[in-house]
Amino acid sequence: MKIAVCGKGGSGKSTIVALLANEACGRDYKVLVVDSDESNSGLFRMLGFDHPPVPLMELVGGKKSLKQKMSQPSVLAESHILLGDISPQHRVTRDGLMLVSIGKILQSLEGCACPMGVLSREFLKKLTLETDELAIVDMEAGVEHFGRGVETSIDSVLIVVEPPLESVNVGQKIHELAKGIGIKNVWAVMNKVPSGEIATRLKTELQERHIEVIGCIYFDADIFRSSLEGRIPVDGVAVREIKEVLDCILSRACLRPPDDTGLASSTLHSD
Ligand SMILES: Nc1ncnc2c1ncn2[C@@H]1O[C@H](COP(=O)(O)OP(=O)(O)OP(=O)(O)O)[C@@H](O)[C@H]1O
Ligand SMILES: [Mg+2]
Repeated sequence: MKIAVCGKGGSGKSTIVALLANEACGRDYKVLVVDSDESNSGLFRMLGFDHPPVPLMELVGGKKSLKQKMSQPSVLAESHILLGDISPQHRVTRDGLMLVSIGKILQSLEGCACPMGVLSREFLKKLTLETDELAIVDMEAGVEHFGRGVETSIDSVLIVVEPPLESVNVGQKIHELAKGIGIKNVWAVMNKVPSGEIATRLKTELQERHIEVIGCIYFDADIFRSSLEGRIPVDGVAVREIKEVLDCILSRACLRPPDDTGLASSTLHSD
């Protein structure tokens, strides 16, 4: 299963990705986190790594030579990419968790991020997962990635929405675009919600836009405090709340836990 985590800038995408990844690992899934956001560089720290992987972009010699190099021998030239095919240099791993990074904008005037969108799309398309493997993709903020077709091979989109209306509006656009390319599983998780009353109002706003809400992560001072060190909490309220979100994702996608008879089914719901 490949899940893209999308939303407005600063809504909490990376935080939700890291919380979900930790939770899924705790349930014995093998989790690949794909850092597809070319701007922010702190996801590796949030996931507990002390350095980031070498971006996959380097495999193709950087942005400029992407087109020429995609066809030359490397994991990216294969028709299918398995987790085991990703070389140690281009991944960091711990306890069933693997992080890969598509690429980062490092210098001014180095050009637009379109080649990274192409690489994200091609990598995700070729990525072939076993039934006990989940890929969680931390998307760049906003909707431009839909224009680049990054979601073409994605099963599920999780939209992170915080209370400001602008975040709801971006969420609505993402919902439309994701449904428009035929993605069946498109859900919202409410984040940084300050009270039960606001949760109810935000949920209503989303439901009026026909967006299914599968969870709520309340504003959590622990998350905010940990972010000063670039980290996320490994226990506490948000960790409990994310459990319910993952339960919903797995049950809606009809995925059984990997340790359930050892024969997890990755059959996606088709109605
Ligand atoms: N539930 C929460 N409670 C409190 N603070 C939160 C919560 N979720 C996220 N934050 C804080 O909000 C800020 C933005 O979070 P995060 O970096 O995950 O957002 P993002 O959507 O990935 O941002 P970007 O668009 O820049 O990639 C961080 O300081 C993070 O600690
Ligand atoms: Mg982020």
